[in-house]
Amino acid sequence: MPLIAVEGIDGAGKSTLCHGLYKEISKKLPVILTYEPTRGVYGRKLRERIKEGNISPQEEYRLFMLDREEHVRNVIAPALSQGKIVITDRYFLSSCAYQGARGLDYARICEENLRFPQPDLVILLDLPPELALSRKSSKEEHFENLNFLKKVREIYLEVVKKHRNLVIDARSPAEEILKKALEEIKKCLRG
Ligand code: TYD
Repeated sequence: MPLIAVEGIDGAGKSTLCHGLYKEISKKLPVILTYEPTRGVYGRKLRERIKEGNISPQEEYRLFMLDREEHVRNVIAPALSQGKIVITDRYFLSSCAYQGARGLDYARICEENLRFPQPDLVILLDLPPELALSRKSSKEEHFENLNFLKKVREIYLEVVKKHRNLVIDARSPAEEILKKALEEIKKCLRG
């Protein structure tokens, strides 16, 4: 069964789409919905360190990788081997885009993440960062300034090409986004 990663900048509507997908797919097929950063040891540490500020891109990347390792081992790999569809709200393309935008080499991040199960489909919710920021209430968070998000978006649009992908204009109505995503997942299930 496929591993589906939903990606996009904050405010693009990933969580609405993920919940919609889960609700529809679970009517017919075994599926789990999961996310990164997780609520595990490293995910919690990451949120703390990010809130404090002063974390280097290298340290951030190291913690996201540790979190992912745990996520794959405890959640993703077992679900896939039980024949479940896995939908993950963020996966390693987030590391390419965000840590890449913080100055790390995103091509290298993609390579280093080849050791994890590769997504069978990446759904990228694409939207101009100006709009994403206006959708969020807190405007000056760690990962939320305009120039930074522009870079994140650029890298996303580049790295997504390495995977089977569906790029959706996140300005579309939620029902339309869900419909497009479900159609692509059906195609993916047919092979
Ligand atoms: P987010 O999806 O907003 O989680 P939550 O709402 O539970 O805090 O993710 C938090 C931030 O982490 C988000 O701005 C993107 C960033 N991030 C990375 O920088 N690299 C990664 O590899 C991942 C998975 C997330």
